[in-house]
Amino acid sequence: MVVVKMIRWWILALQLVELCVSSLVHMSYGFYIFSTAVAGDVFQAFGDWFSKPNVIVGEKVVESNGSTNVEDLPPIVLVHGIFGFGKGRLGGLSYFAGAEKKDDRVLVPDLGSLTSVYDRARELFYYLKGGQVDYGEEHSNACGHSQFGKVYEQGHYPEWDDDHPVHFVGHSAGAQVVRVLQQMLADKAFKGHDTSENWVISITALSGAFNGTTRTYLDGMQTEDGKSLKPICLLQLCRIGVILYDWFDISWLKAYYNFGFDHFNMSWKKTGIWGLVDLLLGNSGPFASGDWILPDLTIQGSVKINSHLNTFPNTYYFSYATKRTSKVMGITLPSGISGIHPLLFIRVLQMCQWRHPSDVPPPFKGYRDEDWWDNDGALNTISMTHPCFPVEHPNHLVVKDSECQPLHPGIWYFKYVEGDHILFVVNRERAGVQFDLIYDSIFERCRKHVFRKRPTMPDHAPQ
Ligand SMILES: *[C@@H]1O[C@H](CO)[C@@H](O)[C@H](O)[C@H]1NC(C)=O
Ligand SMILES: *[C@@H]1O[C@H](CO)[C@@H](O)[C@H](O)[C@H]1NC(C)=O
Ligand SMILES: *[C@@H]1O[C@H](CO)[C@@H](O)[C@H](O)[C@H]1NC(C)=O
Repeated sequence: MVVVKMIRWWILALQLVELCVSSLVHMSYGFYIFSTAVAGDVFQAFGDWFSKPNVIVGEKVVESNGSTNVEDLPPIVLVHGIFGFGKGRLGGLSYFAGAEKKDDRVLVPDLGSLTSVYDRARELFYYLKGGQVDYGEEHSNACGHSQFGKVYEQGHYPEWDDDHPVHFVGHSAGAQVVRVLQQMLADKAFKGHDTSENWVISITALSGAFNGTTRTYLDGMQTEDGKSLKPICLLQLCRIGVILYDWFDISWLKAYYNFGFDHFNMSWKKTGIWGLVDLLLGNSGPFASGDWILPDLTIQGSVKINSHLNTFPNTYYFSYATKRTSKVMGITLPSGISGIHPLLFIRVLQMCQWRHPSDVPPPFKGYRDEDWWDNDGALNTISMTHPCFPVEHPNHLVVKDSECQPLHPGIWYFKYVEGDHILFVVNRERAGVQFDLIYDSIFERCRKHVFRKRPTMPDHAPQ
């Protein structure tokens, strides 16, 4: 008896140590990013101060008329993932590490860093088309937030329609956001807009979160339902932090970085002190109704979302699945220490060993732990290739880019890439030459190999 008790205490102690270490690592990284952004801004401000005449230099001249009219190019829209941010947030920092500068017409929307896939998709529509974000009456009532959100006075692509489609490139959860949006377009889910799936010409996923990830359980989602949180875990700390951040509602801070929960009215001005108590107790807010990103990234949550998403015959699909593990004598292990970001290292290791609790029903029929061991520290590699659960969508594994030209629409082309989950975002130096290779080929594909009916003129291609 005593021994069993001792062992229990040991396990508990180990879990607490793990929690402390991973909270510390995540908080330091968050702080590091934040201070880099502030430092960059301060630096820029000083630069501007000392060399005033340079201010205009560097701005792109967009109004050039002529044969290579930028206005004729379909925009390439880069959609960030969890904890991500769009252009204008975190000062001059770029989530896509400056990849947006590689082409003349790239948009980088800000969709909230922790909002649900559904809410992001709604927001993305109005960001492009313009107007006030309408989250839909039914969904808003069910999730306890306002039906209407931010107003985009001027859409970033108001002419968006069948003949003026867009290219989407989504990182991580951003890839799923884009698929959900395409389905909404096909379902004509935006009041007053006659939309169709053909508004999207191509979707490229960089480490796309199509099938959920076992990491959500390590961070604190319950394996039973994939929706509620364990009482003590990393995500609880995150939840409390987010509630306080939104409740204190410090405007300059929120302008700098926003979790995207403004439609939940969590500010002290709107809910008062009792509202805060309610939020913390879990009676209201996004964490109570489950309308935030983590439940959507569990395997159960993804199965639910995927069950009504289609792959459409006129859209081109391409996906890069990242992996930082390899098999050594039948055991899946992290492949090398140096190539894995410190933020992700513990998780790569833990995900390699993940076992679904035996007393809990599996997330879907046919689930096997070993299929999910390969990972990139945030997502399981199996989840990133192509949508395949509950039904497999047409797909094709790409080894060399040249073998899949011409590309055919309606098929998920996918490629394995050795790298961790954040190799191609935030910090450009880490990926080195791979960074340019990957983004250059994505942009080149959008501009040269992907078109519908009227081919885009060759002189529309950048450079
Ligand atoms: C570009 O062309 C449009 C119409 O063709 C014209 O109205 C506009 O003034 C031109 N802009 C420039 C910068 O030449
Ligand atoms: C949030 O506040 C706005 C106005 O401040 C109000 O119109 C809306 O109904 C509120 N939403 C909720 C869910 O309480
Ligand atoms: C989802 O899981 C199934 C079952 O393990 C798998 O066959 C499929 O490849 C996964 N989906 C994606 C998007 O990879």
